Amino acid sequence: MKIGIPKEIVSQEFRVAVNPDTAKKLIQAGHELFLQNNAGLDSGYTNEMYTELGVSILNTPAEVFAIADLIIKVKEPSLEEVEMIGNKMLFTYLHLSSSKVLTEKLLECKTSSFAYETVIINKETPMLKPMSEIAGRLSLLDSIELLKKSKGGKGKLIAGTSLADPANVLIIGAGIVGINAMQMSLGLGANTTIIDLNQELLNSIKQRYPAVNIALSSKEYISNLLPTIDIVIGAVLTPGAKPPVVISREMLKLMPEKSILSDVSIDQGGCFETSHATTHAEPTYEVDGIIHYCVKNIPSAVPFTATNALNIATSPFILKLAALGSDFETDSHLMMALNTHQGKLTNKEVAEAHDLPFNQ
Ligand SMILES: NC(=O)c1ccc[n+]([C@@H]2O[C@H](COP(=O)([O-])OP(=O)(O)OC[C@H]3O[C@@H](n4cnc5c(N)ncnc54)[C@H](O)[C@@H]3O)[C@@H](O)[C@H]2O)c1
Repeated sequence: MKIGIPKEIVSQEFRVAVNPDTAKKLIQAGHELFLQNNAGLDSGYTNEMYTELGVSILNTPAEVFAIADLIIKVKEPSLEEVEMIGNKMLFTYLHLSSSKVLTEKLLECKTSSFAYETVIINKETPMLKPMSEIAGRLSLLDSIELLKKSKGGKGKLIAGTSLADPANVLIIGAGIVGINAMQMSLGLGANTTIIDLNQELLNSIKQRYPAVNIALSSKEYISNLLPTIDIVIGAVLTPGAKPPVVISREMLKLMPEKSILSDVSIDQGGCFETSHATTHAEPTYEVDGIIHYCVKNIPSAVPFTATNALNIATSPFILKLAALGSDFETDSHLMMALNTHQGKLTNKEVAEAHDLPFNQ
């Protein structure tokens, strides 16, 4: 199969979807690879590292999209990219619940689109997990910076001192992002609370991390805690679907001025009512005196780490899709990844999010 790897176009997106390790495996399996000029450079991979393996380098995205039967990307495509892909195959993070426009474009162009994040195996999302680990850790580290007065924050040191209290951190959602943010928060000495809808999960976390406060998630619990909180990390997920709103605009009034809301769930549409997507170039904005951090591609800040972790997670599925081609329907994991096919919407949660017809 002819496989194309374009350079990512989202602002400050430095990851590449296929690193030389994955490229080598695909070429050994008999596929032809076409990489856009310097697509790997920001992750530390030069064109030469790919050409040595037999990958062809093409100058423009149009050439890559034209020659390939399967496009591998990191972030969701632009509408122009979807037009170039047409009715061929695309494998990437799609997060379609957060964009009806993109969903409709993929349907209109009859693209066979596969999403990394909708594959669930043993209750885990194996292709989201490595990015969630990075995003969880970075969301907390970035929030610490935003607490500094010099960065426009309230001027608090996360760990406090022997004579001053530490900062208070609330993490909503105890999945991969939540636990990674919690580990950072506890490690840095913050007073840390993590909440979820799953009591069993919370109990197991408390056993492993006795210093953390746990509670079942509810609007009432969150409202009671907000007046004391310095940093909130929003890390909820209902796979494929739009996240629930866990903090409304009304609830911002309960928070001290210059507190931080970090909405990691923003890639799925966001879990705070006042969230809208931001970029690494301009990561924050304020609503009612509360600092919002809503970067959609947090792991891109560390592309050397993120590209390799992503490739380890995605390469088995990419190899399977490349091997099966149009026979992908025989594979249950690829069928979970399939979001649109021949003009039909094949993901139930996305169909529900946009009130569009669902086809199995
Ligand atoms: N912005 C980024 O760069 C970036 C990177 C990676 C992941 N993410 C996003 O982060 C989010 C979390 O990902 P994850 O891998 O940790 O998911 P996960 O499935 O591991 O965890 C989600 C948790 O949210 C909990 N939850 C659901 N509804 C809740 C509610 N109302 N209150 C409290 N908890 C609730 C679930 O029980 C689950 O434990 C996803 O939207 C994911 O796409 C964003």
